[in-house]
Amino acid sequence: MVKPKKAKLRDKLKSFITKQSKRPKTATAGQSGHASTSRGSKGASPQAPNQQQKKKQVHRFDFPYSATNRILLVGEGNFSFAHSLAATFKDASNMIATAYDTESVVYQKYPDARHHINEFRKLGGQAMFDVDATKLEKRRLLKGKQFDRIVFNFPHVGLGIKDRDRNIHSNQELLLGFFSSASGLLSPVSPGDKTTGGEIHVSLKSGLPYDDWGIRGLARKAGLVGKATVPFDLEWFPLYQHRRTLGFKTGLSVGENQEIAEKHPKIYMFLRSPSAEQSLQVGNETRGSSSTKKRNKRYRDEEDSESDESEC
Ligand SMILES: C[S@@+](CC[C@H](N)C(=O)[O-])C[C@H]1O[C@@H](n2cnc3c(N)ncnc32)[C@H](O)[C@@H]1O
Repeated sequence: MVKPKKAKLRDKLKSFITKQSKRPKTATAGQSGHASTSRGSKGASPQAPNQQQKKKQVHRFDFPYSATNRILLVGEGNFSFAHSLAATFKDASNMIATAYDTESVVYQKYPDARHHINEFRKLGGQAMFDVDATKLEKRRLLKGKQFDRIVFNFPHVGLGIKDRDRNIHSNQELLLGFFSSASGLLSPVSPGDKTTGGEIHVSLKSGLPYDDWGIRGLARKAGLVGKATVPFDLEWFPLYQHRRTLGFKTGLSVGENQEIAEKHPKIYMFLRSPSAEQSLQVGNETRGSSSTKKRNKRYRDEEDSESDESEC
């Protein structure tokens, strides 16, 4: 009998957690604090950075979005990230921004959301509500669409679970469900152009408990491979105001951007794995072509560093 999708995901998460529990735990919060690409992290000294690492710390990364990208944002809070990207491009006609909450709950939780959504819509963006990031394919408006970037900033179930392991587990479930669902909406690699093909971006704070979520392993379970890990540079998103799942709390929420900045947030970028990509292209003459082979090479750089999960 064919197992339902949910049961399959549960089995994957179970085997992932079993493997993860056999690995040494991350030592202390903040130890993996500085932002860098995951590349070259192996063998890094936990004390003073060497010359090569110092160079990496001042490295400027390319802005990972362009006006021509078809972008899907999930798990938006007050839609300020959507507004910020749209304002940068002066156009949001290629963008769909979604929230997990219903429209009325969004306005209750985040009073500034109305302003950001209005501005985003004025620039041609489409806002959607009540969208579960683990079931994107179920939404009629998203079905059959393809995106160059699918972005989930600071995912968190926000259930207020105090038990550490249960908290980690429920967030792992969210990420695995998101990766599995979003991978089906990524644009494919075009024959002859290895730089194409959709990317999934997830931003996370560094330190515990996030380091224990094992984001790269979860992505692999969903048939994705790492492309790069870059700092979430707040200067890239000038209108962005981070929000918690529970909503805006006067006094508590004011310094949220400052709070995430102190946690050295990173953007983890993933691509569909070569095998997943190839199975999409069955029957297509590009199967096994030089473009696919070149793309495989592109994956390997990040994959090689993946055994060091403590970096994320
Ligand atoms: C820490 S908040 C971050 C909000 C926003 N992305 C930001 O950066 O300000 C976590 C977000 O994850 C969303 N979330 C939780 N479970 C979700 C799900 N199954 N699908 C989509 N979003 C979800 C919450 O509604 C909340 O907006």
